[in-house]
Amino acid sequence: MIAKVVLERKREGHALGSAEIREFVEGFTRGDIPDYQMSAFAMAVCCRGMTTRETADLTDAMMRSGECLSWTAPTADKHSTGGVGDKLSLVIQPVVAACGVVVPSLVGRGLGLTGGTADKMETIPGYNCSQPLARFQEIAASVGVSVAVQTDEICPADKKLYALRDVTGTVASIPLITASILSKKLAEGAHTLVFDVKCGRGAFMKTPEDARALADSLVAGARAAGRLSCALVTDMNAPLGFAVGNANEVAEALAMLGAPGFDVDVARLSDTVGLSLELAARMVSLEKGMPLGDARAMCSEKLADGSALAKFKAMVSAHGGDLDRFAGMLQTPTFKFRIQAMRSGRVSGIDAEKVARVALALGAGRAMAGDRIDPLAGVTLAVRVGDKVTVGAPLATLETTSEPEALERLAADLLKAFAISSGHCEPGGLVLSEVG
Ligand code: URA
Repeated sequence: MIAKVVLERKREGHALGSAEIREFVEGFTRGDIPDYQMSAFAMAVCCRGMTTRETADLTDAMMRSGECLSWTAPTADKHSTGGVGDKLSLVIQPVVAACGVVVPSLVGRGLGLTGGTADKMETIPGYNCSQPLARFQEIAASVGVSVAVQTDEICPADKKLYALRDVTGTVASIPLITASILSKKLAEGAHTLVFDVKCGRGAFMKTPEDARALADSLVAGARAAGRLSCALVTDMNAPLGFAVGNANEVAEALAMLGAPGFDVDVARLSDTVGLSLELAARMVSLEKGMPLGDARAMCSEKLADGSALAKFKAMVSAHGGDLDRFAGMLQTPTFKFRIQAMRSGRVSGIDAEKVARVALALGAGRAMAGDRIDPLAGVTLAVRVGDKVTVGAPLATLETTSEPEALERLAADLLKAFAISSGHCEPGGLVLSEVG
């Protein structure tokens, strides 16, 4: 394989052969193919696309660039393309584990508007996401669920390639996104993979068409690799639930799992709990080969009877976390600022992207890789879309442990996220479409 010839062929729009793709990725991982040629490859794929077969070959080559785990027990995982207030994994994973399906979840650290699942879990004092792979496997097998960060042994080709894509304008490509997400999930080894592809203002994919194309591509890729898979395309125009941040999202997830003592109105989170159960049920149904209705009933039961909460607690303790100290940490004094409705009416929209930008500025996310996250920073909404408000009613609270002088300016930005109108407004359902 001559790298320049592969690049020329892709530039002209030809489908590359499986061996060409494999050798190109192997050469790049070894350091024989330099960054400039891989950047040109990424740009050619962005402009010319890839067939389903090429995408599967690229995914496979990237997966094989590092360690690949395997499991004998039933295993499933869920991947979300990233949303605002998206703490669903924290509910889904223990529910699925309580149904007898192991959830080995290797996650990336959040980079962008809000923290990722690892950042949220690490707000629990003592919780260590950085586990050696062998310990991660041990915890997942014994507890039924483990959330840890991807080590350098998992898909090194993706790490190197993503760093190039990030600075060469080549992130926005369905085949490259598919290979990047899927190679890491395939390396984790779960037999069933369910995708939650977010769509809307607060999502990576802004339009239903793009979100659907990514969902189709992820499911096709997972199936080409011999896994069971389906995807939901779900609405991400308004934040999920009330909490957007890290510790406040963990508290909300704990409340959804039935833990007492958290100041969260779970009765008003039926959409968020409902979507968590829909995704969990698909993981259980595919992996256990049972009808979706039965899987839904099983997941609801495991959430209601406290078995899912017990799994969550067991996972936290296996990772060294301390939930009593977490509850104490939530009482730490912070700087807070409350915003109020300037007019009466119905909340007809809460712009997820605007909320996330404020949460990021408060310290809840990373503007640059390596930035420190403030676990207590974030936004907690007081209302949801469809709620009736009168002038002066609380809309949200901003919270941070540093830079209180920025609070007033950010509060003004946050206010712009709320649309209040005089007409009637019913929130739509979260599931927009399904693949699988
Ligand atoms: N998330 C990933 O892991 N990779 C991408 O390319 C985009 C989002």
